[in-house]
Amino acid sequence: MDGPLLELTGITKRFGATLALNDVRFDLRAGEVHALMGENGAGKSTLMKILSGNIQRDSGSMLIEGRPVEIRSPRDARARGIAIIHQELNTVPAMTVAENLSLGQEPRNRFGMLDRRRVLRDAREKLARIHADIDPTRPLGSLGIGMQQMVEIARAVSENARVLVLDEPTAALSRAEAQELYGVVNHMRAQGVGLIYISHRMEEVWQLADRISVFRDGTYVGTGTRDELSEADVVRMMVGRSIGDLYRHEPRHPGDVVLDVQDIAAKGLGPASFQVRAGEVVSMSGLVGSGRTELARLVFGADRRQAGTVLVNGRRSNPADPAAAIADGLAMVPEDRKSQGLFLDHSVERNVAISSLGRFTSAQVVRDRAVRQAVLAQMERLRLRKNAIDLPVRALSGGNQQKAALARWLLRDSPVMILDEPTRGVDVGAKREIYELIDALARAGKAILVISSDLPEAIGIADRVLVVRGGRIVKELSAAEASEETVMRHAVGAGSDHQTPSMEANP
Ligand SMILES: Nc1ncnc2c1ncn2[C@@H]1O[C@H](COP(=O)(O)OP(=O)(O)OP(=O)(O)O)[C@@H](O)[C@H]1O
Ligand SMILES: [Mg+2]
Repeated sequence: MDGPLLELTGITKRFGATLALNDVRFDLRAGEVHALMGENGAGKSTLMKILSGNIQRDSGSMLIEGRPVEIRSPRDARARGIAIIHQELNTVPAMTVAENLSLGQEPRNRFGMLDRRRVLRDAREKLARIHADIDPTRPLGSLGIGMQQMVEIARAVSENARVLVLDEPTAALSRAEAQELYGVVNHMRAQGVGLIYISHRMEEVWQLADRISVFRDGTYVGTGTRDELSEADVVRMMVGRSIGDLYRHEPRHPGDVVLDVQDIAAKGLGPASFQVRAGEVVSMSGLVGSGRTELARLVFGADRRQAGTVLVNGRRSNPADPAAAIADGLAMVPEDRKSQGLFLDHSVERNVAISSLGRFTSAQVVRDRAVRQAVLAQMERLRLRKNAIDLPVRALSGGNQQKAALARWLLRDSPVMILDEPTRGVDVGAKREIYELIDALARAGKAILVISSDLPEAIGIADRVLVVRGGRIVKELSAAEASEETVMRHAVGAGSDHQTPSMEANP
């Protein structure tokens, strides 16, 4: 086939006052991976939702193999061979893997009843086609996000998709899971499928993509092949300026101990002890599942401790609930903003202000204007558009939702801040801003504990790195000692004279 498989031109989409897409174009050939990049809110997911029939464009044309098409619903899209793995998964978690895979095409036996044996057999076959080793009888919700994505991909493959859209598929994956996904992507490209790949991770885009297109603020900036474009080129196209060294910061000079964790333990966790000083950034590094988040939750008091003590500025903190933890001077930005952080249907203002209302209350009256001003100030710090303040969080792009979660805790202004994956799904420009902010908070005397699966980030922003394995802190490294290799070696428990297993090597 000579012409493109898919051609979108002049696409415009408005949400109320927001011009999400303004005359953009995008094309895709069979057997290529075309990456779509751009800052948070650039319009990437919006274009993909138009392609998948979840929303309708205001104007523009869509051609498949040169012929104009209308895609009015997800069903239309599927019928034309377009499959999408959305940024936010939309599988049914209570159903089993097999049931999810047969959704909408349940096999019936000759009595018209659901043929359960065939459901299982079909599921095994579909999973085998992408080499996914998943037990189809398990409830989908019991699997990690990576496995759930594999199930969605298996479904797309079984529907013989010609176009597969992956919208930030690796944002929540471990390295090993991401490697598996890259294998599936390469396999599908070789089969002649056209893949659209949205990601904020530069290194994986350069590893996977044949071409890269960039959007900025709802407009089309340009397209080039992987060989034509450098990372610096793409960053400039995305944010309109160069960023330089992402992690650069002046040396910091930590002061007194603010957070003192002594032998905390719970089932399968700890005992763990560590300290974070005023003006210090400490990161917790380890494989997904190593217990980093669980340890942090014990410190914060989100889960009950069975033993141990936590001191904040010398005072014991043993909170019964998050509200008490906050009163003790602890703040925690959770990794899963959807289930633990944000109220999606409430406004940005409400979401940001919710943990700080006490500060703005005098004589039982919340001072609305003061709240609004304070929220706006935090939004500005994170470069969130001001006119988003009254929008429901649901209407923000994925990365901007992350910023809203962060803004809430910044407003709270606690002496100890625990940030779990603070830059997940955030574009590189905003990453740099969040790093600057973390540095500024440390310089203002906060004690900061960061959990990050992004190794260069975990090392680059911290003064010390705590390596977690099996729910314990197995190694502490200074910034000078910490390299990706040393951290990874301790994280996998390979000791000091073993090679890092290749499965966990940097993608
Ligand atoms: N349902 C909606 N209602 C109102 N505004 C919306 C809606 N969906 C998206 N927007 C707005 O459209 C713009 C583009 O959002 P989109 O989700 O496409 O960004 P994105 O490029 O995917 O960003 P990210 O990298 O953060 O996922 C944003 O300003 C967003 O707030
Ligand atoms: Mg998006």
